[in-house]
Amino acid sequence: MPVTLVVGAQWGDEGKGRIIDWLSSSASVVARFGGGANAGHTVRVGERTYKLRIVPSGVIAGVEHCIIGPGTVVSPSSLIAELESLRAGGVDVSHVWLSDLAHLILPYHIELDASSERSLGGAALGTTGNGIGPAYVDRAARTGIRAGDLADMPRCLEMLAARTQTARAAGAAVDLKVMTSDLTRHAQALLPHVRDTVSLLHDQLEAGKRVLAEGAQGTLLDVNLGTYPFVTSSVTVSGGACTGLGFGPKEVEHVVGVAKAYCTRVGAGPFPSELNDDTGEALRERGLEFGVVTGRPRRCGWLDLAALRYAVQINGLTHLAMTKLDVLDGFAEISVGVGYEGQDASAFPFVLARGAKPRYKQLRGWSQPTSGARAWEQLPSAARDYVEFVESHTRTPISYVSVGPERSQIIVRPGAPQLS
Ligand code: GDP
Ligand code: IMO
Ligand code: MG
Repeated sequence: MPVTLVVGAQWGDEGKGRIIDWLSSSASVVARFGGGANAGHTVRVGERTYKLRIVPSGVIAGVEHCIIGPGTVVSPSSLIAELESLRAGGVDVSHVWLSDLAHLILPYHIELDASSERSLGGAALGTTGNGIGPAYVDRAARTGIRAGDLADMPRCLEMLAARTQTARAAGAAVDLKVMTSDLTRHAQALLPHVRDTVSLLHDQLEAGKRVLAEGAQGTLLDVNLGTYPFVTSSVTVSGGACTGLGFGPKEVEHVVGVAKAYCTRVGAGPFPSELNDDTGEALRERGLEFGVVTGRPRRCGWLDLAALRYAVQINGLTHLAMTKLDVLDGFAEISVGVGYEGQDASAFPFVLARGAKPRYKQLRGWSQPTSGARAWEQLPSAARDYVEFVESHTRTPISYVSVGPERSQIIVRPGAPQLS
C-alpha cells in the first residue's frame, strides 16, 4: 500500500507544503488531488522560500514525478507563470505533469467569481478570486474545457467561443479575441506537460513506488463536509484523493492530517475559537499569519479540539502533524477548545453555524523557545504536555511536531509513517 495521503485538518494553511516537502525525500511521486491556485503552500529551504500554488510541493525536493491530478482546476496562465518562476529559481519542472482530465480556469471564471462575490455583498464568502467556484460549476454542468482539449486546438477554440457566449450572458465582460490568442499561446507552453496521469500513477503504484497525495485547503473548507457555504468548491478531505487522482482506497497506507498548534482561517464563515483581541493579534504577529495568495490577515484563535476530532473522523487520519508549536512559546497559559457550551459537538458542521461558543480548558504554557528543539526530549515539559493532551483528545498519534518553518525544524516521533 504505497500511498500516503496528506490533508489539512483545519481551515487551510496548516503547513501542508512543509510537511509534504519533508515527506518527499522518501517519495517518488507527489500528486495534488484538488483545488487550484487558491492554495498557497510554503516551503522554506535555508534562506529560500518557495510559494507553490498548484504545482505539488514535492517539486522542491525533486521527486521523480509531480502530478496535477484530474480533480484540480488549473489556470493556464497562472500555471505557466508558476513553472517559469520555479525554473528561474533553479527548480527542475520537466517532470511536472498536468492531467489531461483537469479542468481549465479561463478568464470568464475569474470574472464570474468576482461578480458573484460582489452580488453577495455582506454575505460574500471571501474567495481568493481565482475563479475556483465557477470552474467547478462548469465541470458539474458538463460545460468545462479540460487540459486534454488543448491537444485539438480548433475544437478547443470552438468550445471556448460557445462558453464565452454563455459567460457573457451571465455578465462576464471578456474579450474572445484576446482569450483565443492567449489560450493558443498557453497551449504550446503547457502541452509538453499534459498527459494521462492516471496510467502514470498506476505504473508507479505497480512498480511499488511511494506516492504522496497532496491535499489543498483544509477539512472544514470541504464542499460536502465543511462549513458550507463558507467553503471552497472541491473535495478537500482524504476521500477526494481517490476520485481526484484515480485510484482506489486499497492503495492507501497512511493518512496524515496537518494541524497548527492553534487555528486560523482566511475569508468569511464560522470560527468558534476566533480571538478578536490582543491574544489573536499576538498569534497573527508571531505566526506571520497573512495569506500566501491574497496577503489578507488570517483570523486567529485557539485550537479547537472538537473540530479537530471531526477532521480525524471524516478523513480517517492515522497520524497528525502539528505545526507552529513555536508560535505558542511565551504564553503563560494556553486555552484549548474541548467542546461547545450547551451544544452537542457531534452535530458537525451545523453546530458551528449556530454560533457555537467553545468550552475551554486551560493548559500551562512555557517560556523557553522551542525553535531549536530537534528531538522530543528537547521540548519544554509543558510543550510536551500540550502535544500529548491533543493526542489523547483526538485519539490520534502526533507523529510530527514542527517548531519553525525551516526544513530541519521538525521533530519526528516514534511510530511516524515509514515511507522508504
Ligand atoms: P499550507 O497552505 O498548508 O501549505 O500552509 P501555508 O504555507 O499557507 O502557511 C503556513 C505558514 O507557516 C508558512 O508561512 C510556513 O512557512 C509557516 N510554517 C510552517 N510550519 C511552521 C512552524 O512549525 N513554525 C513556524 N513559525 N512557521 C511555520
Ligand atoms: P491552502 O491549500 C486557506 C478559502 C478562501 C475562502 C474560501 C473559498 O493554502 O491551505 P475559493 O477561492 O476557494 O473559492 O475561496 O476558501 N481558501 C483557503 N483558505 N488556505 C487555502 O488553501 C484556501 N483555499 C481557499 O479564503 O474563504
Ligand atoms: Mg496556504
